[in-house]
Amino acid sequence: MQLLSQFLRRNDTDEQLMDLIATLMVACKEIALQLREGALAGVLGTTDITNVQGETQKKLDVISNEIMKTVLLNHSLVAGVASEEESESVPGNPDGRYLVVFDPLDGSSNIDINVSVGTIFSILEAPKDQDYSTEHPYLQSGRKQIAAGYVLYGPSAVLVLTTGKGVNMFTMSHTGDFLLTRENVMIPEETREFAINMSNHRFWEPAMRNYVDDLLLGADGPREKNYNMRWVAAMVAEVHRVLTRGGIFTYPWDARSPKKPGKLRLMYEGNPMSMLIEQAGGLATNCYSDIMDVEPDDIHERVSVSLGSRKEVEALMEYHAQVESTKEA
Ligand code: F6P
Ligand code: MN
Repeated sequence: MQLLSQFLRRNDTDEQLMDLIATLMVACKEIALQLREGALAGVLGTTDITNVQGETQKKLDVISNEIMKTVLLNHSLVAGVASEEESESVPGNPDGRYLVVFDPLDGSSNIDINVSVGTIFSILEAPKDQDYSTEHPYLQSGRKQIAAGYVLYGPSAVLVLTTGKGVNMFTMSHTGDFLLTRENVMIPEETREFAINMSNHRFWEPAMRNYVDDLLLGADGPREKNYNMRWVAAMVAEVHRVLTRGGIFTYPWDARSPKKPGKLRLMYEGNPMSMLIEQAGGLATNCYSDIMDVEPDDIHERVSVSLGSRKEVEALMEYHAQVESTKEA
């Protein structure tokens, strides 16, 4: 069995990046312990605080965010952090080399029902001599990410990591060490499994409705195969399933909030997950172009996300291209 640090060293990872990843894992290990204790530690339930997203924070959202902030901002390599749970970015060491953007606890509606949640992170180079309390230095496209990943807190805690050289999975042992359990993950190109919140069907764009309606027709429809559907309601768990056995996950734009490009956040959900998916041979799109090419204007910017098995995502994009070309004709 190979330790995370041994694996990263063997792969010639930058020493400072290794150091930062090890620090991130200190925070994630602490979050995993809090989740495991659950009701015994009195950490379940809701606070009376509403975050910048307009969502009521769960106690564990707040706890996880504090753990991430404290651990990262105490590290001299960290110039600043931006979090789903913080309205503004938070500065660290002005001479630090990295910015870390994170969703401290994704899928938090699952906490109180004891279902999978996770921490998603994206690591960016800190541009020199900038004010890291402003959002400007953080506004970098997904292509600029140095590393990205998540820790899924499920029956076991699993780190899924890319430093731009493929995707690898590490399982947390009882000693709290992360051990390599799956190397060089590749997503199957084709799939018969999709994940979407069907209750939003009436709010989708026509192209999305056509695509999903054809999946539902199964072998009798134009896609000529029977599909199965899954919905965990935690992006981190859906992406883990897609990385493990293929599939397509989509949370598209919908007309409930017509001015927002989607529900999920570009910088700490869309971008890190897109980097993992692309590194594993899949595709990640806003239905028209690659998510990682979107230039952000706001750290809390939203994006339409569809990702997974390459051929299935291409099929979805084709439905959108067709509707666009009919509009132009
Ligand atoms: O972070 C937002 C999120 O919790 C994702 O993890 C998940 O994919 C999605 O929202 C679930 O949304 P809904 O409750 O609309 O199904
Ligand atoms: Mn989230």
